[in-house]
Amino acid sequence: MIVQDVFTLAMRWAHALAALLWIGGALFYALVLRPAQQRTQEPQSRLHTQAIAQEFRSWVYLAIGVLVISGAVLTLARLASGVATPAYLLFLGLKVLLALITFLLFFLVRAQQRRRASPSPQATGPGQGNRSPWARARGLLSGPNLILVLGVTVFLLADVLRYLVERGLPGS
Ligand code: HEM
Repeated sequence: MIVQDVFTLAMRWAHALAALLWIGGALFYALVLRPAQQRTQEPQSRLHTQAIAQEFRSWVYLAIGVLVISGAVLTLARLASGVATPAYLLFLGLKVLLALITFLLFFLVRAQQRRRASPSPQATGPGQGNRSPWARARGLLSGPNLILVLGVTVFLLADVLRYLVERGLPGS
């Protein structure tokens, strides 16, 4: 029993750390690094940001692997513990679905970035700078930004799950 408890605790720790690494890193990139780079406008700073993004990406691959494995273990542990009410199952299903969409989106954005990086005449065509307000608004909620919104929502759903478990404990 003790061994199983320690294992579940280790999985919870790994899951929380991987979530922190990915979503925390993405928040830092969106709120601090990208605006700072846009403000300086120096080609050197652009290269730095690209190098940071590249380094961060390999950590994201690791984080996704850890999230999937530890998430599956935590799911089984919760289902076996008997605390999974219908409301818990509903929110867990929603959390897993949103997490899977977030992973998928990450790989799609990555594939798109790779295609853009390879020299192609369409990638740098004219008209990129004067997009319509609608296109700009859509751009705000596409790709990396949407990954961030979904990731933050998955964080919230994890809190909802924990709240549902704690509410079901005797004495609460
Ligand atoms: C974007 C991906 C994900 C993020 C950001 C995320 C985030 C989190 C966070 C922050 C926690 C709370 C950890 C703690 O403090 O103890 C958590 C718990 C959990 N996650 Fe995830 N997660 C993700 C993917 C997944 C996946 C793919 C699964 C299932 C396969 C999963 C299943 C769970 C379960 C069962 C819990 C325990 C909830 C409870 O307290 O009952 N997660 N997640």
